[in-house]
Amino acid sequence: MNYLRRTLATAGLALASIAAMAGSGQAQDYPTRTITMIVPFAAGGPTDIIARIVTAEMAKTLGQSIIIENVVGAGGTTATTRAARANPDGYTLITGHMGTHAAAVPLYPKLAYHPEKDFEPVALLAGTPILILAKKDFPAKDLKEFVAYVKANTDKMNMAHAGIGSVSYSSCELLSSVLEIKPTGVPFNGTGPAMNALVGGQVDYMCDQIVNAVPQINGGTIKAYAVATPERNPSLPDLPTTIEAGLPKYQVSAWNAIFAPKGTPPAIVAKLNAAAAKALDDENVRKRLLDLGSDIPKADGRTQAALAALVKSEVEKWSAVLKPAM
Ligand code: MLT
Repeated sequence: MNYLRRTLATAGLALASIAAMAGSGQAQDYPTRTITMIVPFAAGGPTDIIARIVTAEMAKTLGQSIIIENVVGAGGTTATTRAARANPDGYTLITGHMGTHAAAVPLYPKLAYHPEKDFEPVALLAGTPILILAKKDFPAKDLKEFVAYVKANTDKMNMAHAGIGSVSYSSCELLSSVLEIKPTGVPFNGTGPAMNALVGGQVDYMCDQIVNAVPQINGGTIKAYAVATPERNPSLPDLPTTIEAGLPKYQVSAWNAIFAPKGTPPAIVAKLNAAAAKALDDENVRKRLLDLGSDIPKADGRTQAALAALVKSEVEKWSAVLKPAM
């Protein structure tokens, strides 16, 4: 091994230990400034709601503010690509979900990131069951009539979603394959704005995460036909499951979680994970998430390893269900 390489090796070693020392020093002092949390959809939607509820509490623990930056486009993949390329220093994070970190993989063959390779899993925040929703004057009183009507009028149906690769798109693609229909998809920058269009009657129906729909359902501004989970949801005790309502094949739930760019120091990721876990035990945070129908992960579901395993299994699951859309 010639002199240069030996020197470089020695230097490399020295640099590595300096970096490690700096990293651990960096981790010890982290955070020393404001953290940016990218939300890949419009404000007011389910991912934004969950991110704001949990990060407000995390900021108290971390002693620095966490600002939400809504970056929209391409079903959440625009923002997720940006997060994957961000500096891995703990100051840029993303609240991703079943869409951006699983369903997008089969839908975008040329996706600019891979959920497992380009991200550090930080913390699972909430499970979000999917509901079948329709505009207030949709001409069906229950799920059976809804199914019959959309099958008979598919070419007239406008189905709202938050872009190809989003949860609302993927979960309604699953519904379309169960019902063997091809409605017209109407994309929005998130299901926040899509919900406004549903309330306004500009679109006919949508598959959406429960946290975005509970207030509208309780307010009577939209119709809900079923929740796509084996059990009813405590926040909507009168809403039947798809099994009870006669569509047992349609079972789907989403999830939202924090991810950091690959290479973010493990000590910083561990600090963020601990702050998220603490936030999920906060009484006020729990009440707000549970009132909106979300499932809060138990301790064994809050580890980085648990999130990594979830992403892996969901990428496999949705790759078997969805075909390339591009
Ligand atoms: C949102 O926050 O708007 C949703 O998570 C979008 C989606 O994936 O349906």
